[in-house]
Amino acid sequence: MEIQSLKGRDILAIADFSGEELQAVLKLASQLKSGEKKPQCQKILGLLFYKASTRTRVSFSAAMYQLGGQVLDLNPSVTQVGRGEPITDTARVLDRYLDILAVRTFKQDDLQTFADYAQIPIINALSDLEHPCQILADLQTIHENFQQLSGITITYLGDGNNVAHSLILGGAMMGMKVRVATPQDYQPDPAIIAQAQAIAAEGAEIILTDNPIEAVEGSQVLYTDVWASMGQEDLADARIPIFQSYQVNEKLLSHADPDAIVLHCLPAHRGEEITNEAIEGKHSRVWDQAENRMHAQKALLVSLLGL
Ligand code: CP
Ligand code: NVA
Repeated sequence: MEIQSLKGRDILAIADFSGEELQAVLKLASQLKSGEKKPQCQKILGLLFYKASTRTRVSFSAAMYQLGGQVLDLNPSVTQVGRGEPITDTARVLDRYLDILAVRTFKQDDLQTFADYAQIPIINALSDLEHPCQILADLQTIHENFQQLSGITITYLGDGNNVAHSLILGGAMMGMKVRVATPQDYQPDPAIIAQAQAIAAEGAEIILTDNPIEAVEGSQVLYTDVWASMGQEDLADARIPIFQSYQVNEKLLSHADPDAIVLHCLPAHRGEEITNEAIEGKHSRVWDQAENRMHAQKALLVSLLGL
């Protein structure tokens, strides 16, 4: 059942998958969701989260329990991690107890240190650079709605952040037309754009703009995220006027394809990056998207554990 090439690997970024592996994980996610496949295991997943989480924590836990495995919540406040035990030591110790470890942290380099010092698979459960697990669920949700990814036009609006980075990379790998509308000073990391262009599948497009209306013209997927990510809370108020015209609302939606879907990784700030009408309206697929976190991450666990 497993995707052989992924067994034992680390997934620290969405481009740690090849295009074929990404497609295979998405297919497995849909087979797990439908019940066509029901793998079982007796493995232990550790969750070491330096930042808050509802969806990632609970969807990983539910997925692992459904697989028959166990989950250990290694919150820094109840482990020696919070008292400054080095990652190099923590990683080697956890490696001896666990079968797989998901880490939510700030610096991508810290994830790399976990991966370097632990032999078990390490999963990026969100860093300041990327959120690959989120994008698995997003791509699954888009495919469910359009029965394809290649050629689909997606517009990301708002801050060029971790979610935007993984979405740009994943979209490019799947041959999607990715438009990114941000204020000039909040564009995605140029290194991510260069990487996305280098690994883009045939037909993929990546367009950066500061014009939100042009960016959503005829688009099939509108996607947004918070304007200030975890760790940037003190910047939130100052950003509101800068990002206001990038808000996903009914007016902006009227420029999109009539069958466009609206996605948000959640948690959402209604009235800021998205209106209540847009998130609760008929175009919204955010609850399916949140559910798919569980199926997509189950597929990831099955693949990395070689079940
Ligand atoms: N979308 C997402 O990762 O949500 P959490 O922060 O609740 O895990
Ligand atoms: N960009 C957000 C995503 C939260 C799931 C953050 O990093 O806080």
